[in-house]
Amino acid sequence: MAKEKVERNEKMEAIISLTKRRGFIYQGSEIYGGLAGTWDYGPLGVMLKKNIENMWWKIFVEEREDMYGVDAAILMNPQAWVASGHVGGFSDPLVECTKCKKRFRADHLRDTFLNENPAILHDEPSGTVEVLNRDFSSFDIKCSNCGNSLRNAQVRQFNMMFQTRVGANEDAGSTTYLRPETAGGMFVNYKNVMDSFHPKLPFGLAQIGKAFRNEIAVRDFIFRVRELEQMEVEYFVDPSEWEKYFEEFRLRMWSFIDAIGLSREHVHELEVAETDRAHYSRRTIDFEFDYPFGRKELYGLAYRGDFDLKSHQEGSKADLTYFDEDSKARFLPHVIEPSLGVGRTMLAILSDAYTEDEMGGEKRVYLKFAPGIAPIRVAVFPLLKNKPELVAKGREVYENLRKIFGSKVMFDDNGNIGKRYRRQDEIGTPYCVTIDFDTLGENPELLDTVTLRDRDSGTQKRVPLSQLASHIGSKT
Ligand code: GAP
Repeated sequence: MAKEKVERNEKMEAIISLTKRRGFIYQGSEIYGGLAGTWDYGPLGVMLKKNIENMWWKIFVEEREDMYGVDAAILMNPQAWVASGHVGGFSDPLVECTKCKKRFRADHLRDTFLNENPAILHDEPSGTVEVLNRDFSSFDIKCSNCGNSLRNAQVRQFNMMFQTRVGANEDAGSTTYLRPETAGGMFVNYKNVMDSFHPKLPFGLAQIGKAFRNEIAVRDFIFRVRELEQMEVEYFVDPSEWEKYFEEFRLRMWSFIDAIGLSREHVHELEVAETDRAHYSRRTIDFEFDYPFGRKELYGLAYRGDFDLKSHQEGSKADLTYFDEDSKARFLPHVIEPSLGVGRTMLAILSDAYTEDEMGGEKRVYLKFAPGIAPIRVAVFPLLKNKPELVAKGREVYENLRKIFGSKVMFDDNGNIGKRYRRQDEIGTPYCVTIDFDTLGENPELLDTVTLRDRDSGTQKRVPLSQLASHIGSKT
């Protein structure tokens, strides 16, 4: 049984080191010294990421009849981002130390200061630049880099969109942005999907893709990055029914949380105050997770009203209204948006799965992934590498399992069996299969049986080859 409660930052260090060592996540462009806020996924990270995305697609798209997948371009006509309010308002408050020039998220610095100084009275949340400037000039908030007082520093809004240029021209007209949310690509395709499929309300568009944010302070491994991946739905509803569908997607988000194996105890809903909501939102629930560095946002569920369709209708002059055949009414649908980050999901999964215990008198580290999302579902070992008959049988079992579980099956004949178990434990493989002499009939009663080892308990049982796949597939 897991016995050690690993200290918070020690646990993060352990996760970062394990994920690097075992080929899940590497620092972006590491051989050049890295690039802040970027991370690269290695072979096992790619598999884990695909499993997360496939699970999301299954639960949010395939299990429903009213979803339409899209895969929009990252580069969009810049007018779309003017209309959506991102050019004018997608910003975070920034404060720069007058001495060392280090830049900070002003709201984070102010909130940390107030948490550490509970005796200081304050009456407003840190929503606006005015409130922040007043607080920075009245409290003695210090630069966490050089200790200088930030009393005279000015807080200003910093737009987080990455600008780029399209084509060879250098004029202002060639400027566009890397999309800051995948949502934009769905709103500009709402009319296309309507014209192609004529769906009736309610229906949704779904997309998985990259988004880019020039975050002021990237931190906490893959928690806050500059190049991220989102899994989003824009669900279009009759305005009178928004509450019903908001609730439906709230529950669906919990189904997804269960399916990826997060402990419900570590996920918390937070009703976001009006002052803290994004400019487009009329209601937002944040799903927060207890990361090793504290409770932070995992996902968001927003009621965007008709903000987007109205803005894009005005900006593009395209008619985005919906005609309801039954009521003969024409109106702009309202939008419910569950928005889930892939990286934050992966970090939450790693954080919940990371376990230290003792097995056979030795310290053991393992990742307690739910079988449905584990990169490797089953590893196959011939007991001894130098016995061709064991290796040949092992390859046969491996090939047969691959027909069912594809690339989620690994073959390993390197090192002693205990070391092979530990390697699989560390990458979260739920099952290991060992082919021994009994499999070959040394004990005739055990012919064509193998040992199946369970990752969490370390226990082994003897299973006939004919039932092996069902044993591995049954535990979800
Ligand atoms: N379309 C709505 C939207 O983008 P958001 O709350 O800004 O809303 C949604 O982002 C989700 O995207 C977050 O809940 C988080 O999972 C992920 N996310 C946002 N910014 C991120 C960042 N800098 N690094 C990693 N993930 C991020």
